[in-house]
Amino acid sequence: MSSSNRKIKRHGFSVRFVHWTVAISTFLLIFSGFGQLPLYKRYMVDQLPLLGWTSNFGVTLMIHYIAAIALSFAVVYHIVFHVIRKEYDILPKRGDFKESVQIIMAMLGKGEEPENDKYLAEQRLAYAFIGVSLLLILVTGHIKVLKNLQTVTFPDSILGLATTLHNVATFMVLFGIIGHLAAFIFKENRALLPGIFTGEIDEEYAKKRHSKWYNRLNKQDRFNISG
Ligand code: HEM
Ligand code: HEM
Repeated sequence: MSSSNRKIKRHGFSVRFVHWTVAISTFLLIFSGFGQLPLYKRYMVDQLPLLGWTSNFGVTLMIHYIAAIALSFAVVYHIVFHVIRKEYDILPKRGDFKESVQIIMAMLGKGEEPENDKYLAEQRLAYAFIGVSLLLILVTGHIKVLKNLQTVTFPDSILGLATTLHNVATFMVLFGIIGHLAAFIFKENRALLPGIFTGEIDEEYAKKRHSKWYNRLNKQDRFNISG
């Protein structure tokens, strides 16, 4: 893909702030959650230099709580922000599964890639999968927080279900992140990387790969969108 020096705005500050708050808090939640299982004592991670604290339940629980507050805030902010601005480009559409196969085949050299909007069909599916997994983990996580309060009691059946779903969702999130990062193994997708750091991507790339989005921006003269 040829690269011109002209850049175009893809993500405003809010989107980048939410992405990195979710990414960092999720990483901390996975790390501290595994500590509670308690994997680091069993596999002697806590014997390594500077990592003694990893098997201290009080410490990993505190990290889990602080990161959970950050994740909860980012998710609420994200939903309110995009509903107010009526931005739904990333929600899955009918036919996204078929279109994803078409895009992957085209990357492997078979057939033509469809014209893409702001997000590829597989990005919309990835978003929905990670989003549903995070919502499941948030709901079950809040039930587990309430359970830890001395004044609140739940039936064992609810607690058992919440714990199982919290653990299932942990693996869904892990799987989603691996898939998300694996997308960047393909050279074709890498031009999107600068966008999540600086907000801007190469204009030529947007024109070629996200032509529907590019043409819309062109018509509305919204190249300098902010927010
Ligand atoms: C080093 C880590 C990561 C990098 C480099 C990265 C990179 C990116 C980039 C470049 C985009 C924007 C794609 C575009 O402009 O269309 C994006 C979107 C997104 N990221 Fe990440 N990301 C990382 C970690 C994470 C983590 C940990 C999560 C979830 C917990 C996550 C969830 C998402 C979601 C849901 C989207 C929108 C859907 C999509 O484009 O696939 N990311 N990420
Ligand atoms: C990506 C996000 C998250 C991951 C990967 C994750 C993972 C885990 C894991 C593996 C455990 C240990 C197994 C267990 O006790 O069931 C755990 C426990 C727990 N999680 Fe999460 N979690 C996440 C988000 C949250 C959130 C958002 C909350 C709160 C709103 C939360 C609250 C809790 C609580 C209260 C416990 C139990 C601590 C105890 O034993 O008292 N988690 N989590």
